[in-house]
Amino acid sequence: ARPFNVLGIETSCDDTAVAIVNSSREILSESIKLQHEIHEPAGGITPNVAMKSHQIHLPGVVCDALLKGNMDVVKDIDVIAVTRGPGLPACLAIGLSAAKTLAAEAHALTARLTHTKIIPFPYLTLLISGGHTLILVTHGVNRHTQLGTTLDDSIGDAFDKTARLLKIPWLKGRGGGPGAALEQFALDGTSDRYKVPIPMKKDPRRRHEMNLSFSGLKTSMKDLIEREQLDLEDEKVRKDLAATFQRTATCHLIEKLELAFGWCRTREIDLSALVVSGGVASNKSIRASLERLANEQFNLPLICPPPHLCTDNGAMIAWAGVERFRAGLKDDYNIDHMPKWPI
Ligand code: KG4
Repeated sequence: ARPFNVLGIETSCDDTAVAIVNSSREILSESIKLQHEIHEPAGGITPNVAMKSHQIHLPGVVCDALLKGNMDVVKDIDVIAVTRGPGLPACLAIGLSAAKTLAAEAHALTARLTHTKIIPFPYLTLLISGGHTLILVTHGVNRHTQLGTTLDDSIGDAFDKTARLLKIPWLKGRGGGPGAALEQFALDGTSDRYKVPIPMKKDPRRRHEMNLSFSGLKTSMKDLIEREQLDLEDEKVRKDLAATFQRTATCHLIEKLELAFGWCRTREIDLSALVVSGGVASNKSIRASLERLANEQFNLPLICPPPHLCTDNGAMIAWAGVERFRAGLKDDYNIDHMPKWPI
């Protein structure tokens, strides 16, 4: 088989570690940022402090590993592997989100490959799928700034869970899963009959950040149904609820994109487009709203790669990395952690 290179990310506890290993069992580079100094005064590891330190240092550690290996993440790395567990949940989340971001590079660049002439760098990328909920500035190949990601569920998950909550039938013989079914179902629903809060909007600590959150929205839908004792046997009620969910999720995306656009403007980043990719990008209602936002408020074109290039290849690569890493290279990489992997 063709040899391949794996970039591994480990943030399960108190050290931020990245290594590049190839399938011929060579460690090509290693980089680590130890945290013991910051935990010493407390006499133990404080998860929140460890998490913040990962957040701050991981991008640098990844860059350092790539530099040491003289590698480019797009050209030279075939697979991204990340510790999923065991470990401190908040710390694992940082590594996982970074791995997804790196895998997302493929998504972010696809649009440029299919539209070479009309999308010069830099552009704003919104990646919305079952695996990713990301706002990036794509400055160039291998140069992205992550402005925001979901703090909990992905937007695709939120669509899927809400579709289940509202018992929305799947579309027969059509792809797109529960999310696409929800979109179809919401078509003749009224989105302003019910009101659910836009995530993070009322939270003074959170409303100015570019991260997103979708788990609260799902809970708000449940609360609304209970509070108003809504009858889910009534199809009109369910359609209106579906439309309400879709509108609220869209408003949340718009608010965060506005912040991201403002962030770019403050830094005089001259964006060429808003690129939207991922399974949820095929939602026509979301697309129309984002098109209006891009054209009228940002004065940018909205570019969505064709649906077959929107599917979640990045996440697949990351998952494949987990599998390959576990199967072939576990004896060589970080012997402290690998034996604890559940088989
Ligand atoms: O990118 P993708 O195909 O793969 C994964 O990330 O796994 O995205 C799948 C997600 C699913 O959650 C699916 O329900 C959602 O995208 N999705 C949609 C629509 N089509 C697919 N959500 C809302 N509206 C759609 N039309």
